[in-house]
Amino acid sequence: MSKVHVELNNKTILVTGSPGFIGANLVIRLLTEMTGGTIISFDNMNDYYDPALKEYRLGLIEQAAEKSNVKHIFIRGSIADKELVDKTFAEYRPSVVVNLAAQAGVRYSIDHPDVYIASNLIGFYNILEACRNSYSLTSDEEYRGVEHLVYASSSSVYGGNKKVPFSTDDKVDNPVSLYAATKKSNELLAHAYSKLYNIPSTGLRFFTVYGPAGRPDMFYYSATQKLVAGETIKIFNYGNCKRDFTYVDDIVEGVFRVMQGAPEKKNGEDGLPLPPYAVYNIGGGQPENLLDYISTLQEELVRAGVLPADYDFEAHRELVGMQPGDVPVTFADSEALERDYGFTPKIGIREGLRKFAEWYKNY
Ligand SMILES: NC(=O)c1ccc[n+]([C@@H]2O[C@H](COP(=O)([O-])OP(=O)(O)OC[C@H]3O[C@@H](n4cnc5c(N)ncnc54)[C@H](O)[C@@H]3O)[C@@H](O)[C@H]2O)c1
Repeated sequence: MSKVHVELNNKTILVTGSPGFIGANLVIRLLTEMTGGTIISFDNMNDYYDPALKEYRLGLIEQAAEKSNVKHIFIRGSIADKELVDKTFAEYRPSVVVNLAAQAGVRYSIDHPDVYIASNLIGFYNILEACRNSYSLTSDEEYRGVEHLVYASSSSVYGGNKKVPFSTDDKVDNPVSLYAATKKSNELLAHAYSKLYNIPSTGLRFFTVYGPAGRPDMFYYSATQKLVAGETIKIFNYGNCKRDFTYVDDIVEGVFRVMQGAPEKKNGEDGLPLPPYAVYNIGGGQPENLLDYISTLQEELVRAGVLPADYDFEAHRELVGMQPGDVPVTFADSEALERDYGFTPKIGIREGLRKFAEWYKNY
């Protein structure tokens, strides 16, 4: 698919969901790589997991901003607050919008559905509306507004897809969790807005992202906390799971490249705009067996000095059945990302979990 280069230097970029895990890493990368311009972080700092970790990441962002010639502004608020979203767009007129703010997690959506509807559906709709209203006629007779909307989707949209690897050409109409249903809905809404208002948009289906200062609700992190506390970790589906784990730096590299290449605006045979719309997988394309991942995590926790060498791992694990909403395998077909952006995630679990364990030791 043809792409239009989007210049980031000296532009205003809005990243929602920063200082979330992926958002903080992305903003730090932008502050390091860009010249001039402004980055706006927008996050409600909710307590789905310990907000102290978000404050810690915000501190890292502020440190990076001090060394950068790019201005950083943090807005605390919810994307479900239409007035605040509209005010932010009117005041700062972002050229590129990266929407990472969302209620994540498959299991939490079973007991807390409301927050998924508020953040992932109403919040995303507010972002789309603000993008639509960003366009205005400039002095050189051109309509200008948001040049590229990039947003987080998820590998969970593939549900129980049997065909591997998962391709963005596969039919994904059978979500098995509310979380997955909201992410698929985001893709549908974005398609409609791209078609109706010619807004270039790219959805990114992230595959199990991990790394330093990651999310404590995710397995590698919560398992580490439990093992340190001497508790037992539950291994779901008796360990018969395969996950395409993706290290956060690879995700950031993918998002950074995608931000700079927007789907081209073109007219179809009917003279009407074709939707400048795309969706990509970002995943390593090398699914790991859950038990191998756990063994590597254990080795790296010992190596980093988080746990003693004689730790009895066998006594602290329990094999249990599958949880509702979970899927047995995730496996990304990353060919399209390689073709259009020249990038495939590269960092293996040994290197990635080592970095996580070393960070955890020092945190
Ligand atoms: N980490 C993964 O493995 C993974 C996989 C697939 C998709 N994703 C998606 O990537 C995005 C980022 O994920 P993450 O792992 O960094 O999660 P995260 O929870 O660390 O980050 C999300 C951030 O969004 C904020 N937020 C939530 N609702 C908000 C709202 N209504 N208004 C403003 N801010 C709000 C949270 O406070 C949090 O800081 C999410 O959209 C998530 O669904 C993540």
